[in-house]
Amino acid sequence: MSKNIAIYPGSFDPPTNGHLDLIERGSKIFDELVVAILRNPDKDPLFSVSERVAMLEALTGDYSNVRVDTFDGLTVEYATKVGASSVLRGIRALSDYEYELQMALMNRKLRPELETVFMMPAEKYSYLSSRLVREVAQLGGSVKGLVPELVEQNLRGKLDPAYKLAEFKSSHEEKSETRKSRQRKKA
Ligand code: PNS
Repeated sequence: MSKNIAIYPGSFDPPTNGHLDLIERGSKIFDELVVAILRNPDKDPLFSVSERVAMLEALTGDYSNVRVDTFDGLTVEYATKVGASSVLRGIRALSDYEYELQMALMNRKLRPELETVFMMPAEKYSYLSSRLVREVAQLGGSVKGLVPELVEQNLRGKLDPAYKLAEFKSSHEEKSETRKSRQRKKA
């Protein structure tokens, strides 16, 4: 019998507890679940694609039937490429429904045999979104309990002014070292 493979596409910038809740639920009903991060050069993400891959790989390491990948272009094309018959998406509140319905129906128009499966995350995550997590963290609020600890640490690393200053200094030092070495070579 063929494997029942699903993709769970999204931006995951950053992954939240709501995403992980859905991954856990999805891993129980599909033989294989591919968490597929959209590589979108138009957006200005907080975390790079490779940072999001690293976080999601660490966070889903315990699920033997979950893997993390990246894609660009159409979701339906990517689903076909990995042999998926379903697209998993989360619906939190009624407000998600219209956008999700549009996407699901457009994907159905493009690839009728691909089914979109909606699952609801736990109620406690029903107001949670990556956008709100980014906003709260950027404005210095606590996101404890909303994102996994690893993501919380990484957010702190990204947004803590002291950390950012240290990062700036080290990149500045690196650049001036390269400049000096070029000048030495020329001389
Ligand atoms: O986490 P997000 O940002 O809500 O995820 C949106 C995503 C990645 C699922 C959606 O933007 C998408 O499928 N993009 C790929 C391009 C595509 O297939 N567009 C047509 C879908 S209707």
